[in-house]
Amino acid sequence: MQRRAFLSGALGAALASLYARTSFAQSDSHTMHMAPGPAGMSDARAMPGGTMPAPAPLAAADALTTGAPLPTLRTLANESREPGRFRATLVAQAVPRPLLPGQSDTPFWQYDAGTGTPDLGAPVIGPLIEVREGDTVEIRFVNRLAQPSTIHWHGLPVPPDQDGNPADPIAPGAGRLYRFTLPAGSAGTYWYHPHPHMLTAEQVFRGLAGPIVVRAADDPLAAWPERHLFVTDLKLAADGTIAPNSMMDWMNGREGQFLLLNGALRPQIDVTRDERWRVWNACNARYLLLAFDDGRSFAQVGTDGGLLAAPRGNVTSLLLAPGERAELIVAAGALPSRARLVAAQYDRRKMAMMGGSLPAEPTRALADVRFASGAAAPGAAGTPPALPAQLRAIAPLSPFRARQSVVFSEAMDMKAMHQPGASALSMPRGMQFMVNGATYEPGRVTLTSRRGEVEQWSIENRTDMDHPFHLHGTQFQVLARERGGRHVAASYLAWRDTVNVEPGETVHIATIQREAGERMFHCHILEHEDLGMMGTLRVV
Ligand code: C2O
Ligand code: CU
Ligand code: CU
Repeated sequence: MQRRAFLSGALGAALASLYARTSFAQSDSHTMHMAPGPAGMSDARAMPGGTMPAPAPLAAADALTTGAPLPTLRTLANESREPGRFRATLVAQAVPRPLLPGQSDTPFWQYDAGTGTPDLGAPVIGPLIEVREGDTVEIRFVNRLAQPSTIHWHGLPVPPDQDGNPADPIAPGAGRLYRFTLPAGSAGTYWYHPHPHMLTAEQVFRGLAGPIVVRAADDPLAAWPERHLFVTDLKLAADGTIAPNSMMDWMNGREGQFLLLNGALRPQIDVTRDERWRVWNACNARYLLLAFDDGRSFAQVGTDGGLLAAPRGNVTSLLLAPGERAELIVAAGALPSRARLVAAQYDRRKMAMMGGSLPAEPTRALADVRFASGAAAPGAAGTPPALPAQLRAIAPLSPFRARQSVVFSEAMDMKAMHQPGASALSMPRGMQFMVNGATYEPGRVTLTSRRGEVEQWSIENRTDMDHPFHLHGTQFQVLARERGGRHVAASYLAWRDTVNVEPGETVHIATIQREAGERMFHCHILEHEDLGMMGTLRVV
């Protein structure tokens, strides 16, 4: 029997062989001891004759109600009266919420403000942090979880020791102060979430994630009413518990049966005026190909790090990889109409257990949208002016002082997977997702950069599936995509901190770090990150 396979392209096949052994080689007494409970892998249903405990069945697709008005997100109150200062407390804690009638409460984990009195009237999503360029932000974090945690300020240029790195965990019951000042030019759409070593995926899928909006004094789109769409994914068991990650979830990244918008399943949105939408993909692994089902267009005006130089009109679909954000202008139109906001089919080449790849997920409804119902007559007071042709200046990052190379790869170590005792781990040993040939190790430096120097990075995907690359502490510019030696230059300049990389593709970016210290870069499929598809950038 082949015990060890290092491969690119054979991960699915290796798993197939593993599963065949587990299912049918009954005499092998120490195959795949699986731990029950949230830490275990539990795809036993896929394994007739297997010895793993059966996982709880999932809740039916219609177990949650649809059609409620889009919930408004909570806002984190500023406890400081000083101008230019934002001060608050965020408590991470377990908050059971009644979700399925007749079942026990669903054990969410959520961020709450102040003393931590759980806000049960609002979605689980952490309160919106709304701040301005130039603000000094001081957030006290209290960890009331039973495991270590951190708060990472995804996309913001905060000092390395304030960024919630896995190397700076906050123990259960402990707390710390995060403090940073938002520089000019940082206006944009960000988010916060935990980043503890090997525990990020679970903490996020249990509810720990929240939005951040940084505003500029001279926002050219300030006249447009703003709507926030925070997308999360929920894999709910029929008994009301949150299902643990299965082997397939670890391999492909977890996707639940419920795709939620501000915590609600397929809510109703009424657009009576042209609106500015900020959309967050806070799913562990689900890709969102945003579109309206009637093919209507919208304008894209922003990416992760704020406004584009100019609006991109007539966009009919926009891909948001896990971790990415966008700003859109959605027109009410002159006449009443309806459309469904969907996550359209996108094939991210998920791997199948028996080798090859799984079919793409079907289109999912995100919301039902009513346009222009009760709208003011065109030209009436309150109608926003036409979109400005220019939004802001974006200078291309240059000149390049150094080059860095990041390679994503995958491998399966069958021997490690079969080791007795492997069952006690919270994730499958031996399923490896790597950066530059190695899985993440605390303290090991993967790349070194000099602060203040523009670098050109190439991110190459040598695996069989898409991976969203994310770099901490800065916003970068995508220069080009390369495949088979052919370069295609990016068609517009934008500030991003997350970019999708397709299999066989190399994405070239321009980036700069402005402070010395350690920064993480990783795949933002959080299961892959926890499995080690992450590196440390030392900035000197
Ligand atoms: Cu949102 Cu290191 O990630
Ligand atoms: Cu981040
Ligand atoms: Cu990945």
